[in-house]
Amino acid sequence: MSPVSLKIPTFEDYAHFYEKRFLDEVVYWADDSHYEISLNDYAYGRMLAQNEGEILERIIVVNGESVGTITARDYVERTCQCTLGIVIADPACWGHGYGYEAIKQFTTILATQGIGRVILETYANNKRALNCFHKIGFQKKRVFFAPNTGRFIVQMFLNLRPPKPIGEVIRPGDPRWKAPKH
Ligand SMILES: CC(C)(COP(=O)(O)OP(=O)(O)OC[C@H]1O[C@@H](n2cnc3c(N)ncnc32)[C@H](O)[C@@H]1OP(=O)(O)O)[C@@H](O)C(=O)NCCC(=O)NCCS
Repeated sequence: MSPVSLKIPTFEDYAHFYEKRFLDEVVYWADDSHYEISLNDYAYGRMLAQNEGEILERIIVVNGESVGTITARDYVERTCQCTLGIVIADPACWGHGYGYEAIKQFTTILATQGIGRVILETYANNKRALNCFHKIGFQKKRVFFAPNTGRFIVQMFLNLRPPKPIGEVIRPGDPRWKAPKH
């Protein structure tokens, strides 16, 4: 069985990895720049954003321990696409295949929510992240220079397969078919 699972966030999850999340090494790869944020603002801010539907976030759990976040944001209804962010807050947990496994599980959740395409952006020198995303099947879309960070950014995308129905599919023409409500 996989050591990785995803769970709905609680304050305790964020508190568990808060210190490591803002280590210089993690911020260098995950953020545009350093910013000061208290545990309360960090944890409650993210839970509020999730409750308001601005983001869909899950906690990455490895062998029973909360180690980071995986997040979908900027959902575009017209194209059914969203932007993915992932941060494993403990550098000791990098490079063990946990990110790969977390993204696999999370994209399955997104597909069941009707998301058809996932976009992400990562620094061009973030070889670990690029390898991980490439292995999952993300393709390079474009590379651009971000003056605010002084670094190049790679934008990638992944098309998600719609989930397979587990029962009978009722299509237009079938007397039981009803038009979807908008
Ligand atoms: C990016 C991140 C989520 C990747 O997760 P991870 O668990 O470290 O990556 P994985 O171990 O799943 O990587 C999968 C593949 O990447 C490659 N890889 C792993 N470590 C690597 C390294 N140090 N250098 C180059 N490639 C590496 C391997 O090919 C690996 O495949 P393998 O299982 O066949 O060895 C994680 O490292 C992280 O959170 N980093 C800090 C924040 C960050 O960079 N976020 C991304 C911003 S979008």
